[in-house]
Amino acid sequence: MSAPIRAADPAAVEEAARTLRAGGLVAFPTETVYGLGADATSDRAVARIFEAKGRPEFNPLIVHGDTASILMRLVRFTSRAASLAGMFWPGPLTLVLARTDDCPISRLASAGLPTLAVRVPKHPVALALIAATGRPLAAPSANRSGALSPTTAAHVATSLGDRIDMILDGGACPVGVESTIVDLTVDPPILLRPGGVAREAIERVIGPLVAGPSEVAVEAGLLPKAPGQLRSHYAPRLPVRLDVTAPRPDEAYLAFGPDVPPGAAEMHNLSPAGDLVEAAANLFGLLHALDDARFAGIAVAPIPDHGLGAAINDRLRRAAADRTR
Ligand code: TXA
Ligand code: MG
Repeated sequence: MSAPIRAADPAAVEEAARTLRAGGLVAFPTETVYGLGADATSDRAVARIFEAKGRPEFNPLIVHGDTASILMRLVRFTSRAASLAGMFWPGPLTLVLARTDDCPISRLASAGLPTLAVRVPKHPVALALIAATGRPLAAPSANRSGALSPTTAAHVATSLGDRIDMILDGGACPVGVESTIVDLTVDPPILLRPGGVAREAIERVIGPLVAGPSEVAVEAGLLPKAPGQLRSHYAPRLPVRLDVTAPRPDEAYLAFGPDVPPGAAEMHNLSPAGDLVEAAANLFGLLHALDDARFAGIAVAPIPDHGLGAAINDRLRRAAADRTR
C-alpha cells in the first residue's frame, strides 16, 4: 500500500505531526529537497528511516529544528556557529557540531559519532511540521539509497511510497539541491558538501574553509581513510568479539533474540524478540553502556545479515576491526 500524498494544509500538517509523534515516517518538503522525517529523539523511529532507505550502512542524519534556540540545546554552539546561524538560518546550511552531554537526540541519528548535523530549514511546511510535532526531526533526503534526491512529492512516492506512512505535498522544492554542510568541530572548518549556500558566502562570515571529508567520520570508519588518519573516535574502548555464542565470564554480552547463552559478566539484549529494527535502535546506546572497564571485552551474538542487520553488522565489524590503539 502506498503512503497517502496529502496537500500540506493545516489539517494534514496536524495529522503528519501526530504520525511523527507516534514514531511514524513522514516525507515533507524543505526548500532544498524533500526530507524523510522521523522523531529525532526516538531510536526506534530513526531506525525506521534506515530501514526505509535501504542502505547497507548507517549514515549520520541531519536534525531539523524550527528555531536555532531549539538546536542550541542539542549541540555545543561555537561562535562561528552563532555567526553562520544568524546569517543563513532559516536556510540551506547544515552545521556539524559536538553533541551536548545530555543531548536527547538518538545516537543512531549520529551513527554513533560524537557530533550532530543540524539546520533550520526555510520552508513554511517544514517549519509548521516541526513546530506541530514539538520535536526536532531527523531527515535525510527522501529517496531510496542510491536514487536521486526528490524535489517533488511524486518523486518521493515513486521511490519510497510503499515504505513510509505519509507524504506532505508542498509543491516543488525551490532550491532543488541539498544544503551546504560545514563541519565546525575542526579548525579550519571543513566544507563537507557544497549545496544551497555558496562557499564564498560562508567564507565571508567565518573565513577560509577547507574542502574534504569529516575527520571524525573518517576516523569512525564511515568514510574512506586518507593516508595518515588517526585512530577511531567511534570504536568502543574495549575489544569487540563478533559471532559469539559462548561468552566468557569476564565479558559483557550483547545478545540478539530470545535464546541467550549464559556465562557473561553482564548481558544486554539488542532485541529479545529478534527484531532488526529494534536492534538497530538499541545498537549505539547499548555499545556505550557496555563499554565499561569492569569488563575485559564486549562479545556480540550473531546478527542476521538481512534488512537492517547488514548495517548493524557493518558497524560491528568496524568496531571489532579497529584495534589500532
Ligand atoms: O538539504 C538537505 O540537507 C536535505 C534536507 C532534507 O534537509 N537533507 C539531506 O540529508 O540531504 P542526507 O542524509 O541525504 O545527507 C546528509 C549528509 C550525509 O552525507 C551525511 O554523511 C552528512 O550529511 N552528515 C550528517 N551528519 C553528519 C555528521 N555528524 N558528521 C559528518 N557528516 C554528517
Ligand atoms: Mg541524500
